[in-house]
Amino acid sequence: MSTNITWHAGNISREEREKLLGYKGLTIWFTGLSASGKSTLASALEHQLLTLGVPSYRLDGDNIRFGLNKDLGFGPKDREENIRRIAEVAKLFADSTAIAITSFISPYRSDRDAARKLHEDSGIPFVEVFVDAPLEVVEKRDPKGLYKKAKAGEIKEFTGISAPYEAPISPEIHIRTDQIAVEEGVKILVDYLVNQKHLKNGVGIN
Ligand SMILES: Nc1ncnc2c1ncn2[C@@H]1O[C@H](COP(=O)(O)OP(=O)(O)OP(=O)(O)O)[C@@H](O)[C@H]1O
Ligand SMILES: [Mg+2]
Repeated sequence: MSTNITWHAGNISREEREKLLGYKGLTIWFTGLSASGKSTLASALEHQLLTLGVPSYRLDGDNIRFGLNKDLGFGPKDREENIRRIAEVAKLFADSTAIAITSFISPYRSDRDAARKLHEDSGIPFVEVFVDAPLEVVEKRDPKGLYKKAKAGEIKEFTGISAPYEAPISPEIHIRTDQIAVEEGVKILVDYLVNQKHLKNGVGIN
């Protein structure tokens, strides 16, 4: 922990910023097994929101591990730190009135709950989306060939095979990607945002 630092609050509150820009920031947190469809759904949602003119920005597992989190591995401690940093960055985007969309396996309930608390303590909405498909289905999809490698013992601590996945108990949204198409999933998400008044008829809040 650094010492001799003081939080500089600035003189525009989030409420004023939201009013001026006409958008309300929040974080949509996708969680689920590898190949469950987090990145696919997150990209489609981001595209849909941007098409509607809603500022949104996606933070995605692999990409973040190339940069911000390139010093981290896949053991429990590093996974925890991975999620902690992502939650902080998502919160900054949301604070700037963007819709932050994160797509990380985020297998531990305690880490996701910490991400939620971080947001909720600042009054920023946190929408947990369980992207769900049975293990047999995701193993069959295996777009990156990771399950094959994990089963052959070439990848250690692979979620669902040799590391645990703790499914959300009460996520805001639960999407079964083996049962519904990507476009339907996006519709569920946008409808939720409108119903919760995060978006007005698919656009800003003013
Ligand atoms: N209804 C659906 N929703 C989302 N993805 C689907 C659906 N049906 C099939 N798929 C396919 O499932 C695969 C999901 O891969 P994707 O990269 O999105 O998973 P992921 O959850 O981001 O995995 P990882 O944790 O490894 O990044 C893609 O090949 C996608 O085309
Ligand atoms: Mg992904």
